[in-house]
Amino acid sequence: MAVNISVVEIQDWQNLKSDLLRERARRSAGGWAHFFIAHVGSEEAGILVLDILDRPPRASIHEIFVLSEYRLRGVGGTLLMHAVDVAKFKLLPTLDLEVFPLDTATSREFLTQWYFRSGFDAEQGCARRMVRTL
Ligand SMILES: CC(C)(COP(=O)(O)OP(=O)(O)OC[C@H]1O[C@@H](n2cnc3c(N)ncnc32)[C@H](O)[C@@H]1OP(=O)(O)O)[C@@H](O)C(=O)NCCC(=O)NCCS
Repeated sequence: MAVNISVVEIQDWQNLKSDLLRERARRSAGGWAHFFIAHVGSEEAGILVLDILDRPPRASIHEIFVLSEYRLRGVGGTLLMHAVDVAKFKLLPTLDLEVFPLDTATSREFLTQWYFRSGFDAEQGCARRMVRTL
């Protein structure tokens, strides 16, 4: 099935229509955070919160979350690749994340394999952290 997925950066996460996405954004709000929303058609489907850090320079995925009714359609993958593109555009050397399932439908094993397939490797000395060199 063809899915029309688009990603936009937003400033005003307080205006998100989805209570769940707004709550995810609220938990991640902070000085380093950039908020990206995936839409399927015109509907909010997922969120990526990307921290752009400078000591040392790197990008870090603070949050990636897709509403359950939009999962397994490529929305998460589109957000993940968006994070890679943004970090590359800002000339950051790495993109990292902590593998931490945010609901019971998502397992650590699924996430680890998904991130491996997307070019991330285990970070040495940190059991849950993964990193992609850009
Ligand atoms: C992790 C998460 C963001 C993935 O979002 P998504 O929109 O479902 O992701 P995608 O559809 O792009 O990718 C799903 C992957 O599962 C694979 N897949 C599809 N059907 C599958 C099935 N029945 N069983 C296992 N894997 C399957 C797809 O092939 C795809 O892998 P690929 O990108 O290597 O092809 C989503 O599960 C989520 O929001 N979970 C809760 C929040 C969370 O735990 N976030 C992680 C924080 S570290």
